[in-house]
Amino acid sequence: MRVLLVGSGGREHALAWKISHSPLVEKLWITPGNPGTAQVGENLSFAVNDLEGIVGFAKEQGVDLVVVGPEDPLVQGLADRCAELDIACFGPRADAAELEGSKAFCKEVMVRHRVPTATYRVFSELNPAVSYLQGGARYPLVVKASGLAAGKGVVICADVREARDAAKAMLDDGVHGSAGRTIVIEDFLDGPEASAFALTDSRTFLPLETCQDHKQLGEGGSGPNTGGMGAVSPNPMMGARTTDAVERQVILPTIHGMNHEGRRFQGVLFAGLKLTPAGPKVLEYNVRFGDPECQVLMLRLKSDLVPLLLACAKGQLDQCEAPEWDARPAITVILASGGYPGNYEKGIPIRGLDLVWTGDDLQVFHAGTAMEGGQLVTNGGRVLAVTALGDTLLEARDRAYAAVETIDFDGKTYRRDIGEAALQTLRNFQ
Ligand code: GLY
Repeated sequence: MRVLLVGSGGREHALAWKISHSPLVEKLWITPGNPGTAQVGENLSFAVNDLEGIVGFAKEQGVDLVVVGPEDPLVQGLADRCAELDIACFGPRADAAELEGSKAFCKEVMVRHRVPTATYRVFSELNPAVSYLQGGARYPLVVKASGLAAGKGVVICADVREARDAAKAMLDDGVHGSAGRTIVIEDFLDGPEASAFALTDSRTFLPLETCQDHKQLGEGGSGPNTGGMGAVSPNPMMGARTTDAVERQVILPTIHGMNHEGRRFQGVLFAGLKLTPAGPKVLEYNVRFGDPECQVLMLRLKSDLVPLLLACAKGQLDQCEAPEWDARPAITVILASGGYPGNYEKGIPIRGLDLVWTGDDLQVFHAGTAMEGGQLVTNGGRVLAVTALGDTLLEARDRAYAAVETIDFDGKTYRRDIGEAALQTLRNFQ
C-alpha cells in the first residue's frame, strides 16, 4: 500500500512510526513532516492546508490511503476532496469535522442527542454576553472561542470581570480572529480531565485505550494551558464502569446523532472529558488523535494500525478485530521551547538525542524540530515527545525522565510531574 500522512507534529511522527511498521505498507510519504518522520518515510513539502497539492500528489502517485493528522485540513474539506477523487481518506469530511471546527455546533449536537455536557449559552455580540455574565451566570465559568483557536481559545473565569474581559477580547478585540466571532459560555465542570478515543466508520466503532493528558504548563496543573505537556495511558481514573458509560452515553449517541443529522463521521472521535461526580461529561470533541495522547497510544498499540485506518475510510470496520494493546503503561513527556505557549525562539541546537537508546520501550517523537546545516534545532513550541513503556507506570516514568535529562537545548522546558496524578490514583486503590 501507498500511504500519505498529513501533518508535522509529534502526533504525526508517532503515526508515521507505527504506519511504517505495517507489513502492508510499501511506501509512506509525510507532508510536510519533520526530521523524525523523515527517518521512517519520505517527507514532502505540501503544507497541511494545501489541499489541492495534497490530493493532486495522491492521485498522481496512486496513493491508497490518505491519513490526516491535524484538524485544520479536515475542517477545510481535505476528506471531501479525497472523496471526489475516489481516494480513501482517514478523517471526517468537513460537515462532520465541524464537531471540532465549531464549539457552538458541537454543543448543539450534544444537546440534541442527549450527550452529557455542561449547560451553555452562545453569543455573537458583546452586550448580550455581558448581560448574561452580570445576570444569570454562575462562577467559575468557561468562555470559549467557538472556532479553531490552536488550543488557546478557552478561558476559565473566576468572576464577572475576568469573564467580561475574555468575552470582549474574543468578540470585540478579535484576539482569535474569526474563530472568536462566536463564543460559547458554559458552566465550569469539576473533576479530573480524561481523553477517550474511538475509531469509527460511522456504522460501528472500536474504542481505543484511555489516556490522561496534562494540559497546563506548570507542575500540579499550574500556569497557562498548552497543547499538552505530557500524557499517560491507560488512565487509571477510567475504570470499566466509566469506560462503559463513555461508550454508551457519549461515543454511541454522538456517532448515531451525526448519522441522523446527515453528517456521517468516519475517523477517530476524540472526546475530551471531565469525570464529574455525576459521571463523565464532554468538554469538547476533536476529530483527530490527541497530541500527545497519540504518542502513548501508538507505543502501546500491538495491532497493525493500517487496516484499522483503512477500514474506517472504507466503511468496513465491522470486519476488523478490536485492537490489541500492550498491557504495560506508557508515558510521554513533552520538551518545549522556553517561553511556550507564548513567544519562543527557534533554531536552538538540540544536543544529546544520539545518546538516548531508543527501541520498543522508548521512542523520542519529533514535533517542533528542523535540520539546519546538519544540526537538529528547535522549530516550534513543543519540540520533542519522550515516550516510554514500563512494567509499571513508575518504571515507564523513570525511563522517560532519564531520556529527558539526556536531551538538552537552551530554554528546555518540561513538567517534572507527568504521570503523578495517575500514580496517586493507583496508590489510592492499593
Ligand atoms: N492533547 C489535547 C489535544 O490534542 O487536543
